[in-house]
Amino acid sequence: MPLRTDYCGALRAEDVGREVSVCGWVASRREHGEHLAFVDVRDHTGIIQCVVDGAHDLRSEYVVRVTGTLRRRPGGTENPQLPTGQVELGDCTVEILNTAEPPPFPVTDRTEADETVRLRHRYVDLRRDRMQRNLRLRAKVNSALRGAMEAQGFVEIETPMLIASTPEGARDFVVPARLAPGNFYALPQSPQLFKQLLMVGGADRYFQIARCLRDEDLRADRQFEFMQLDAEMAFAEQEDVLAAISAAIADVAEAVTGTRPAEIPRMTWAEADDRFGTDKPDTRFGMDLVDVGEVLAGTEFRAFAEAGAVKGIRVAGRGDATRSELDRLTDRAKSLGAAGLVWMRVREGGTVESPVAKFLADDELAGLVGALGAAPGDLMLFVAGERRLANKVLGLLRLDLGRPPVSEGPHDFLWVVDFPLFEGVGDDGRPIPAHHPFTMPHPEDIDRLESDPLSVRSQAYDLVLNGWELGSGSVRIHRAELQQRIFSLLGIAPEDAQSRFGFLLDAFRYGAPPHAGFAFGLDRLVAILAGEDNIREVIAFPKTQSGADPLTGAPTPISEKQLAELGLKLLPPKT
Ligand code: AMO
Repeated sequence: MPLRTDYCGALRAEDVGREVSVCGWVASRREHGEHLAFVDVRDHTGIIQCVVDGAHDLRSEYVVRVTGTLRRRPGGTENPQLPTGQVELGDCTVEILNTAEPPPFPVTDRTEADETVRLRHRYVDLRRDRMQRNLRLRAKVNSALRGAMEAQGFVEIETPMLIASTPEGARDFVVPARLAPGNFYALPQSPQLFKQLLMVGGADRYFQIARCLRDEDLRADRQFEFMQLDAEMAFAEQEDVLAAISAAIADVAEAVTGTRPAEIPRMTWAEADDRFGTDKPDTRFGMDLVDVGEVLAGTEFRAFAEAGAVKGIRVAGRGDATRSELDRLTDRAKSLGAAGLVWMRVREGGTVESPVAKFLADDELAGLVGALGAAPGDLMLFVAGERRLANKVLGLLRLDLGRPPVSEGPHDFLWVVDFPLFEGVGDDGRPIPAHHPFTMPHPEDIDRLESDPLSVRSQAYDLVLNGWELGSGSVRIHRAELQQRIFSLLGIAPEDAQSRFGFLLDAFRYGAPPHAGFAFGLDRLVAILAGEDNIREVIAFPKTQSGADPLTGAPTPISEKQLAELGLKLLPPKT
């Protein structure tokens, strides 16, 4: 007989009468009389109750093999909560395959254990049903993605991990080069430049499930190491990329949820900023930002009259907010850069209560209520100021006040298109690229590159899911003259460009095809599909918020000998 004939969680009433062997961990043990115990054995599929006769020293998390005959549970003792709740294993022979120390926390689906303790003993944590589900869902997503990309003619090609710097804009992790002391490899922030080289190399349609590394502050949706579905297409335009990625996303969502999502809607960046104050709008709920400039066209209230824009949101049913809650909201708005926050409570009969009501005419107050579609019992919040800033501040307040957990409710995918080429002007007066410097400007706007750069749209696009940026991509510049024009605008001198991206510019001189691509964060996609609000829950061995790995102890010091081999000397720690 093999070590195992069946998985614990797979046994059902149809199997009654069979002799089976299961293997797994002791999930729980309940005594039943002097010599009889109910022992739940767990593997990755679930648990099975085993009725064990005789004295056994079976403790939590011991590793066991149990052989017995499957039988129906006696009437009245079935457990409808459990898929195996109709049956139990009787006449059991138990073999202890290994003992175990008491686990640092109970292996149950919901755990209160501190995250550092969970990560320190991740091998115990991973035995939990929820973690097993997440890991398996992740594998399903990877597999569906590979299938979807291959079906569309994409070829999986690996790119190196020890490279020169990439242009994604975060801080590089670097690796000292032993054979070239004083020199360093950078770990890739993405395969960006290599996938463009692959296009010059005739790969036509490339994809990779790629590991990327960025030394940036960690958050719920950020790790140092993360995975991207990375893709690039030659002789392709924006529409081709959106179609290919949309198809892959639909295949994955269908593989995981069983239903194929509707076609992914699109929104321009300008509309996203205007209605939601962000380039990654969470469209699962309303509370759109409303421009009330027209209502206030003739107002004498200076804070509104002199502002570049006045935007408002309606917070339904929150007219009962206390003064201290409103003060906190005002402080938050100020901390985000607004000069202030105007609040108004809508009373029965449509009258408005607000510290600024006395400065506004009755028809202006009524106009504000009408513009926001507010009703008695609602709260209205307004920010006046420079338009982008007002949008940003209200957009964040909208999220604070209305946003469900990222994993909750529907999966609201959204393409945001027509991003600006530049996101602003730096201290040096030069425009700052919104994506990376290889992004193709919108053909209709190229003439204004030098005269009005901030008005130039790019052929860059983002995919958003429930308010998380899932991915971005762009049509790339493939002609040297245009690339040079962009570098000049950015203040990157030709020698500088040559030293940073010279190999790519060189390659472009040997017949670069028009190309475009995209990459999305797999950890983020899997987290949301798994109903998790933090990507750490879908990564087998993640780092903590402070970048440590409590399991291996990384990062750790290295020996003097290793340092010497690398030609490195440490400075005293900063105090
Ligand atoms: P971008 O820098 O926007 O684009 O990255 C694409 C996607 O990768 C995910 N991501 C992360 N996920 C977890 N932790 C992180 N620290 C992290 N950083 C990024 C996000 C993000 O949307 N080369 C370009 C793509 C292209 O132009 O083709 C790129 O990497 O989901």
